[in-house]
Amino acid sequence: RHGMDATAAAAGAHYHAPAGQSVSCDSLVAGETSGPTRTFELTASRKTLKLDSGKTVEAWTFNGSSPGPELRVKEGDRVVVTLRNRDIADGVTLHWHGIKVPCSQDGVAGVTQDAVLPGEEFTYEFVAGEPGTYWYHSHQMSSVQAKKGLMGSLIVEPKAESGTIAADAEASAFYQRLDSSLLLNGSARGFNVPAKGGEEVRLRITNADNETMKFSVDGASFQVVAMDGHDLHEPGWLEGAIVAVGAGQRYDLLIRLPEAGKAVVRSPSADDPAITLGSGPEPERAEGGVPFSFLDYGTPLPEDPEREAKPDRRYELKLGQSLFVNTINGRSFHEIPPLTAKAGEKLLVAISNEGGGDHPFHIHGHTFRVLSKNGVPLRGSPVVLDTLLTHKGDVYEVLVNADNPGLWMMHCHNLGHASMGMSMMLNYE
Ligand code: C2O
Ligand code: CU
Repeated sequence: RHGMDATAAAAGAHYHAPAGQSVSCDSLVAGETSGPTRTFELTASRKTLKLDSGKTVEAWTFNGSSPGPELRVKEGDRVVVTLRNRDIADGVTLHWHGIKVPCSQDGVAGVTQDAVLPGEEFTYEFVAGEPGTYWYHSHQMSSVQAKKGLMGSLIVEPKAESGTIAADAEASAFYQRLDSSLLLNGSARGFNVPAKGGEEVRLRITNADNETMKFSVDGASFQVVAMDGHDLHEPGWLEGAIVAVGAGQRYDLLIRLPEAGKAVVRSPSADDPAITLGSGPEPERAEGGVPFSFLDYGTPLPEDPEREAKPDRRYELKLGQSLFVNTINGRSFHEIPPLTAKAGEKLLVAISNEGGGDHPFHIHGHTFRVLSKNGVPLRGSPVVLDTLLTHKGDVYEVLVNADNPGLWMMHCHNLGHASMGMSMMLNYE
C-alpha cells in the first residue's frame, strides 16, 4: 500500500486495526438507488496557475484548475467519479468530505485504499443520500496536497419536491489558500452574485483553508439555513452577526438583499476576497458584530426522539498540544486508541479543546448531533455536523450515530494539526 495519510512520518505505512475490530472495508459498496447515474472524471496534474492577482503558483490541480470543477448532483443520484493521476509523485485519492459513503469509497490512503500513483486510476461510486453543501479533497498526505490545491466543491441539490428553503438565486463560495493567497472560487478578488433588491440568495460557504474564517454580512439581514449540509429548523433572521466557519465546515446563508444597494459578505481583512450581492452602492463595513451561536438558534423539532436517545458508550476526547505534536488525550497518532462501536449504537463523545489553537474536529462517514456546549444544552434547532469548530476552553458533547460500519478517520481539520498527531480512528467491532 502507498502512503498512510495522517502523519507525514508514516509514509508508506498502512493501518492495522487492533484485534477484534474491523480490519478492512474492501467489500463495502454503494447502496441501491432509483436515481440516475452521474459520471465525472477528475485528473490530477501539476500546473502553473496565474492568479487574477497577477501572482503565479505551482499548483496541483484537478482538470487543470484549483479548485477543481464543482460537482453538482441531485439527491438520490448514483455518483461515479473516475480519478486519474497524471504526475503527482506521492499519489492522490479523493475523500468526500461530509457525505456518507461506504468505507471502501472514503478515499483515505493507507486505510481504505492505496494512493493512486501516476498513470493509475480509481473509480469511486456512492449514492448522494442527503442534499447539502459538501466538498472533496485528496486524502494522501492531505496537509500538503490540500495546500497545493487538490480540492473542489460538491453540491447535492434537493429533489424538487423536498421542503428546503426556497431562494431566488444561489451561489457557492469556496475558500481555499493556495500558496499564501486566500482564494474565493479560485479568485483573489472575489465575485458578484447578480440579484435584484429584495431577493433572497442562498450562499453556500465552504472553508477549505486550515484556519477559522469569520464573516460579516453587511447591508442585509440573513439566516444561517444549514451547517455542514444539514438544514436548521426554523432559522431566525440575523443582523450584524459574525459567523465563524471552522476549517472544513460549510455554512449556507440565506441573504435578503436590501431594496437598493449591495450586500457584502466579507472577512475582517480588507485584502481578502469578498462576495458582493446585487448592484448599486456598497454598504459601510460594519464594526463589532455579535458572534453567531447555534446554542439557541432556530427552534426545536416538535417531535425529536433522538434528543432523549440513551448513549450506548461514552468517550472523552481532549484536544491539545505538547511540545512538537498535537494530541488527543495526551497522545498522538498512531498511539491514540480508536473509538469502537457496534453497528447501530450511539456514542456520546465529550470533545474539549485544551489549547494549541482552534481545533475543527472532523469525523469521516458519520455525522454527529451537538448536545451541549460548556454544560449548556442546545435550546434551538438540532445541529448536525461532520466538523465541530472548537476554541480553547470549549467543551462539547456530541452524539455520534454509529450507522456506517468500517474503518474511519477522525481528525482535526487544521490539516497541519492532523499531520502532527491529532488524528485517530473509529473502528467497528
Ligand atoms: Cu476533509 Cu479526513 O478530511
Ligand atoms: Cu487542531
